[in-house]
Amino acid sequence: MIPVMRPWLGEREAAAAAQTVLSGWVAQGPKVAAFEQEFARRVGAGHGVALSSCTTALHLSLYLLGVGRGDEVVVPSFSFIATANAARYVGAVPVFADVDPLTGNVSAGTVQEVLTERTRAVIVVHQGGVPADLDPLRALCGSRGVPLVEDAACAVGARYGRAPVGTGATLATWSFHPRKLLTTGEGGMLTTDDAAVAVRARRLREHGMSVSAADRHAGGRPVVESYLETGFNFRMTDVQAAIGLVQLDKLDEMIARRRELAACYHELLADVPGVRAVRDPAWGTGNFQSFWVELEASYPLSRNELLGVLADAGVSARAGIMAAHRQPAYAGHPHVPLPVTERLTDRSLILPLYHSLSSSEQRTIVEVLRAKAV
Ligand SMILES: Cc1ncc(COP(=O)(O)O)c(C=O)c1O
Repeated sequence: MIPVMRPWLGEREAAAAAQTVLSGWVAQGPKVAAFEQEFARRVGAGHGVALSSCTTALHLSLYLLGVGRGDEVVVPSFSFIATANAARYVGAVPVFADVDPLTGNVSAGTVQEVLTERTRAVIVVHQGGVPADLDPLRALCGSRGVPLVEDAACAVGARYGRAPVGTGATLATWSFHPRKLLTTGEGGMLTTDDAAVAVRARRLREHGMSVSAADRHAGGRPVVESYLETGFNFRMTDVQAAIGLVQLDKLDEMIARRRELAACYHELLADVPGVRAVRDPAWGTGNFQSFWVELEASYPLSRNELLGVLADAGVSARAGIMAAHRQPAYAGHPHVPLPVTERLTDRSLILPLYHSLSSSEQRTIVEVLRAKAV
């Protein structure tokens, strides 16, 4: 079976994890601090705060912004459900905006449609690693005084213009789940340029403690901590961060390889009728974390039928991005019509793309799509 994704992990990550285990310090400590610093530098942010996942990073972002009961948070329904759930975690109401048909991302136009006087934050997702068009969104949100949070779970290494996604973000959140390019098993990060926000985020991830456990340990002499506010346990471990540091070192190679594989797919799919593949938008370059294709109305099979045919041919593809408003967890939740979201979620699928995928495997995959196209 050709899997949909295979993380690019090897001896270097195994050695880094082993060294950390043998050091005796496996909880959040010096490796986490080094990973935060390197990651923030890499995405052009002033500060990185490592967390247990992107889900907790989204939750913490809204908490830091003071979003709470009765407030509205604009989110795409066309995203992993964690984006919408973050609003509910703080007692707010997720308000679904539709997406642009080419990128699958919310735009200033779709967000404007659902802004109200109760909107307290907007979360833009760089879906599948395709950068959203940020300038118009920043202008819209800025003019209303509404903070824009970037859910960059999938987007490490993607660029808006020439700058890495994350540069200049009020708050950006990242995932290191194995479906993403850079993985630490589970894990996440929050990045910001605001030093005071980073200090508070570090405190909140660790129960609101005045001095972190790692600092107390490093200090040598006993320090009695106090608990300044009600916090959480959203910590990453040093074992994860040690793996993350090695992965970060490989990031340029990961992105180059994925872009090379995407270019090969584009070439192979060029003469397959009824199939539209995701591409770089005019305003930036993606990392091709997900290589999705949309089946146009002229394609003879439904998406689910094609997934079945691919599975029979030994190819593990996946349904495209989900739509949160269609899930039982959001049954009865009011929303504006979301025609583009519904079309993309029904008619798109994600093809295998990972570092060690070969061009002959890519040809095998595309041949299945081509054979059914006519
Ligand atoms: C857009 C988006 N946001 C948030 C998440 C949640 O990330 P994590 O699994 O690190 O909590 C994901 C995971 O797939 C995602 O794709």
